[in-house]
Amino acid sequence: MTDGAPARSWQFEIRPAGPDDRLGMARVHVATWKSTYRGMVPEERLDALTVEGDIASGFGRWLTDPPPDRAYRVAHLSDGTIVGFAVGGPNRYPEDDFSGELGAIYVLQDHQGHGIGSALVGHIARHLLATGRPDMIVWVIAQNPYRRFYEKLGGVLVRERVAESRIAGGSLRERGYGWRDLTALARR
Ligand SMILES: CC(C)(COP(=O)(O)OP(=O)(O)OC[C@H]1O[C@@H](n2cnc3c(N)ncnc32)[C@H](O)[C@@H]1OP(=O)(O)O)[C@@H](O)C(=O)NCCC(=O)NCCS
Repeated sequence: MTDGAPARSWQFEIRPAGPDDRLGMARVHVATWKSTYRGMVPEERLDALTVEGDIASGFGRWLTDPPPDRAYRVAHLSDGTIVGFAVGGPNRYPEDDFSGELGAIYVLQDHQGHGIGSALVGHIARHLLATGRPDMIVWVIAQNPYRRFYEKLGGVLVRERVAESRIAGGSLRERGYGWRDLTALARR
């Protein structure tokens, strides 16, 4: 910014994440869990989430030593603040019959609705296509109203399941949204 005004949320860039991004990503992850999952995940589990615990349980390890073909992308403002991230790669559940998976996507509540999420999905779609995966699935908690985001992007409800969630501390009903051809998403 040239006039000293705070960065506007829709002026963002997306880049690959590295180990130094774990704090920014964990902040986004914990904040969006708390702002999204009230009423879907037990309150005490949400209240117990901390940035430090989040780094220790996942991001630190993943970003330092990422699994093969897994892509991590962060969305940041001009001052470097991370406001969103997405993870995608080979499907962790190959029985689903989709080769690629959008494993996680989160945008801070104050920055939602300005195209950051769809731009992040575009980056993951391009990565999947570039690594030989023409299709993709994503799992979302069945009651999560943000599943409409996937419908807006052309995802089709293909599965339902009950899955264990480490963070939620129990089982959750989830819906799987699929894209059989990522070409259109990759143009976003
Ligand atoms: C879901 C999420 C990643 C979307 O990111 P975003 O930056 O807000 O999305 P965008 O601004 O790119 O929206 C893309 C389109 O989806 C629509 N959309 C997004 N959220 C929606 C919702 N809850 N209901 C209906 N439509 C929605 C937008 O209106 C937009 O439509 P348009 O292209 O016609 O304008 C983000 O809102 C988020 O982090 N939500 C909370 C966490 C979460 O549920 N993550 C998914 C876990 S599986």
